[in-house]
Amino acid sequence: MKKRPVILDGDPGHDDAIAWVFAQADPQLDIKAVVSVAGNQTIVKTTRNAHRICTLLGIEAPVARGASRPITADPVTAGNWHGESGLDGPPMPEPDRPLCPLPGVELMAKVLRESPEPVMIIATGPLTNVATLLTTYPSLKSKIARISIMGGGVTHGNWKPAAEFNIFEDPEAAWIVFHAGLPLTMCGLDVTEKALITPDDFPRILSVGNQTARIVEGWLQFFYRFPMQLGYSGAPVHDPCAVLIQTHPEIFRTREMYVDIELEGEYTRGATVADFRGYSDMKPNVTVVMDIDREKYIDLLVEALAFYDGREVPVNE
Ligand code: BDR
Ligand code: CA
Repeated sequence: MKKRPVILDGDPGHDDAIAWVFAQADPQLDIKAVVSVAGNQTIVKTTRNAHRICTLLGIEAPVARGASRPITADPVTAGNWHGESGLDGPPMPEPDRPLCPLPGVELMAKVLRESPEPVMIIATGPLTNVATLLTTYPSLKSKIARISIMGGGVTHGNWKPAAEFNIFEDPEAAWIVFHAGLPLTMCGLDVTEKALITPDDFPRILSVGNQTARIVEGWLQFFYRFPMQLGYSGAPVHDPCAVLIQTHPEIFRTREMYVDIELEGEYTRGATVADFRGYSDMKPNVTVVMDIDREKYIDLLVEALAFYDGREVPVNE
């Protein structure tokens, strides 16, 4: 099978980490670079987490440190969801190699330049790196096959009433990405809050029996507690949707829509304003993912975890 080259860009983050578990296990994808961004935690923490996740999963692509703050917005972090480290829970391995010396956006540009074919960017954090790449190197747009993001939502937010965390963190970056004229897939809260993993699923995940399955179960044990307090019936494990919509579209339902980013609203800054009923005469610019078959999502996770059988790396107790 011919693999599709991808760049992973995220702010790990428990659900970013699980997104990367899926990406590394999938025979359709060839991970060319991993880039961190400030979001769930500071850039120092998300970069360290990204580096350790790559060691855990055997992702050999270079790992580079991305943007340390949004383009103009004030940074916020989500320690309430992801803990002090940004990836609280089970012990993790120390990085097995140095970070790539290039800044994240330069690594992305290098991968695009050197790739014989267009590369997909899977972005599961604030869109700061992607927007900076587009504005700094507009000529490389033709080397981007698609941008697949977790962010936004048609009907509601999760950080503010109308704004989802990744978009709220850097709305100016999101605006640049949504106006880039590139193929764009948005996995917003409409779908990702249906990508629930509940404590009833944990034994099945653990029963895969390898180190990665034990660590993923440990991440979920940490990650489900805060949403359960908020009244969710499990953990909304958002970010893997941005990977799986590209590899397993059959478990999702999508709609083409015009979506813009609110930059000004007193109550709505960072909202993704989606023309759900086709009121405007703007052409659809986004494939919006609306629904997921949750049972199949869990089946795919169990299947992906089995890929790591036989892999065991020392962790830092
Ligand atoms: C998004 O925000 C982060 O906390 C998660 O990693 C996910 O990317 C959900 O709103
Ligand atoms: Ca994320």
